[in-house]
Amino acid sequence: MVTRPPDPRLAAEALLYLEWARGAGTRYLPAATPPPAVPVPVEAAPAAAPARPQRASGGPRKAAKAGARPLPKPILRQGATPSAPDLPPAERDARLASLKSDVVECRRCKLCAERSQTVFGEGSSTPRLAVVGEAPGAEEDRTGRPFVGRAGQLLTKMLGAIGLAREDVFIMNVLKCRPPQNRNPRPDEVAACRPYLHEQLEILRPDLILALGSPAVRELLRTERGITSLRGRFAKTPDGWRVMPTYHPAYLLRNPAAKREAWHDLQRVAAELGLEIPPRN
Ligand code: URA
Repeated sequence: MVTRPPDPRLAAEALLYLEWARGAGTRYLPAATPPPAVPVPVEAAPAAAPARPQRASGGPRKAAKAGARPLPKPILRQGATPSAPDLPPAERDARLASLKSDVVECRRCKLCAERSQTVFGEGSSTPRLAVVGEAPGAEEDRTGRPFVGRAGQLLTKMLGAIGLAREDVFIMNVLKCRPPQNRNPRPDEVAACRPYLHEQLEILRPDLILALGSPAVRELLRTERGITSLRGRFAKTPDGWRVMPTYHPAYLLRNPAAKREAWHDLQRVAAELGLEIPPRN
């Protein structure tokens, strides 16, 4: 008899389901385990990042995966997501609005007790670039908008440096609620919020994701590795989304010398999207 090694994607999907079911209040499931660390498929750095012609809207058309079995919301279609066809813009808007109302009412983890409001994310519903940060801070919790504090102002400048306005991209976080005193997200909080982030990506279908800082990179790439070893090279999530890991703007505010590396990472994103870097003022 031929025995096959277990499929890591199926295992990851089963874990996601367990986490979701636990978050939904199913009591007989075993205690939360951290997501399995998987080797990160990192793309080799080309000598010069290839420029791609800009297309009018939406992501590159990916061939629909034959026989991909759609699972009901909120279980994620691991491995099938990026090969499904794009949704029409009106449908994206409707699904985003429906997901946002789920998030507004979310009580999956203890953070709901301390938040002023949830921070779903904002921007284009047909973005070529999605930006994923860590969690709302004080200013975001107050306004309900992502990246509007000091780090957010730097992020807006970073995007502007490659010719993108905030409205051109979709900006969101791993967590939709502010952790008290801006402490690091805890694994159970990340697990509780996971389906929202993955559903957002499935609706938005960006060509690229800019992942800001270790919590975002770890969650998207399902790895224990930190940002320093991963930044600057495109990598793939287990779902197949392409990610450019880079430093979080809050880190850049504390360590301005690292802006040089972040600029390199942004230039790679710009080249990949076929964007012309605007001249500096
Ligand atoms: N830091 C984040 O990671 N996200 C925000 O929205 C603001 C600050």
